[in-house]
Parts: sequence; C-alpha cells; structure tokens
Amino acid sequence: MKIVLLGDLHFISPADPDCERRERRRHFAEAWPSFERVISWVDAESPDLVVSVGDIVDWYSDENRDFALERLESLNTPWILTPGNHDFAPGGEDSVPQKGLPEPEEIRKKWEDCGVALGNRSVDADGAQLLLVDSHNSGVPEGTRDWLRRKTDNSMRNVVITHVPLNVPSMSDYILSIEPHRDLKKYVQSGAPDLFEASLRGRVEAVFSGHLHFPGKVSVEGTDMYLLPLSIHAFEKSYPGEGSICVLDTKAKDGARVRMLKEGRH
Ligand SMILES: [Fe+2]
Repeated sequence: MKIVLLGDLHFISPADPDCERRERRRHFAEAWPSFERVISWVDAESPDLVVSVGDIVDWYSDENRDFALERLESLNTPWILTPGNHDFAPGGEDSVPQKGLPEPEEIRKKWEDCGVALGNRSVDADGAQLLLVDSHNSGVPEGTRDWLRRKTDNSMRNVVITHVPLNVPSMSDYILSIEPHRDLKKYVQSGAPDLFEASLRGRVEAVFSGHLHFPGKVSVEGTDMYLLPLSIHAFEKSYPGEGSICVLDTKAKDGARVRMLKEGRH
C-alpha cells in the first residue's frame, strides 16, 4: 500500500472574519496556493491513502475548517487526519480554553460533524498497520498505552502517526540541536513521557510527526522517528524543507519504504 504523508498545512480561509490575525499570520494566510501544486504532485504519485499529521488549519474557525476540507477534498485519494494543536485552537496556538471561544470538546464535535475523525485509530495497510495517535495537547488520551500495546503485540510492521513527536531523549536532543529555544513541554509529548517505553519499544517500525516545521530523523532501538516539514510553501518566510511530502510504501523493501520528496519553488 502506498501512502502519502503530509506535514503541517496551516490553512487560513480568506473568509475568516479575524482580519487582524490573518494579517499577522500572512505567511500562512497566503501560503495556500502552493497546495495546488502539492495536489497535482500527490495525484501523480497515485497513492492509496493520504494521511495528514495535523495542523490542517492555523486556528480553528468554521471558515478555516471548511477551507481546509475543500483543499484536501480536491485530492483524488481518500485522506485521513491525526489532529494537531492548531486544529483545536480557536484563539491562537494552544488548545487552552478561552472565554467566549468554543471549548476543545465542542471543536472536536464540529470536526466530527463534518466527517473528520480525530481520535486514536488503526488502519490496515496491506500487512502493515498504521496507528493514528491523538497527541494534539502534547499528551495522549486515556487508555492509549494499553490500546497501543494490544495493537502492536504480534509484529514490528507497525507505523505510528502522531502530531507531536514522542518524548525520547534523542528526539529532544535533536530538536534542541536545531532550535535551542523550543519548549519541550510543548514540542515533545510531555504529557506521555513513558509512551515509547511502555507501549512502543521494539514494536514499531516507524513514527511520523509534524509540529516542528523542520525535517529530521532519529532512530531509537530499531524505530525510525521522522519529523515532517511543512507541505506548503510559506509566504515571504522560509521554513527548512518546506514544500515536502513523504511517501511510505508498505510493500517496498526496507531501504525503499520511506521516501521524502521535496518540491522546488515554481
Ligand atoms: Fe504546525
């Protein structure tokens, strides 16, 4: 099975009523046209499935949600999502409830009413298993450890897809080596510090995350952990590796299973 993984997209609708924020976030508000090229590029790969690692909107509003869904639905491939912090954040970067703005559970319902599942799920991928883990708040839902242990009991052909990277020392070291100012409370799964040890060690071939907006890979005891850069090109601002997609072929031999593809600017 061929799967295209998309990094953070941060769509902002031209119809979102918050003009001030649209202006302040212009690097993302004006980035969406570059996704048109991603669509033709993904279509040329003709994958069986597209998976977003989350942050499909820059902040949650009904306008941004509908705009993001419209873009993703123009792919010729079914797509699914594991949510990011921005997908739950009506008022900015974090999913902290704010007066007058919808609570995270209301936002979850709004996505689900549009047919977008956000919770932990497994997807059968031709002999491999994709495990989508909701880490939008830098933790994981209750029961995730047991669920992952059960799901990964019998083979290594498991792939975890989760917005916030796992909390393992080599990932934290890597992040700080690239951007020393990053707060690890937010940029690794600080709410689930034992997840790898408790449920994934020796059981998972690869883990894909977004959230940092720069690319990377660390390997921990047989598990390759990838950071995916943005899949759009920001406007008048540049992010390392932006405009990339990742192709995962679960049938390919070891070395060819994961390909990172980087688009040039046009
Ligand atoms: Fe993001």
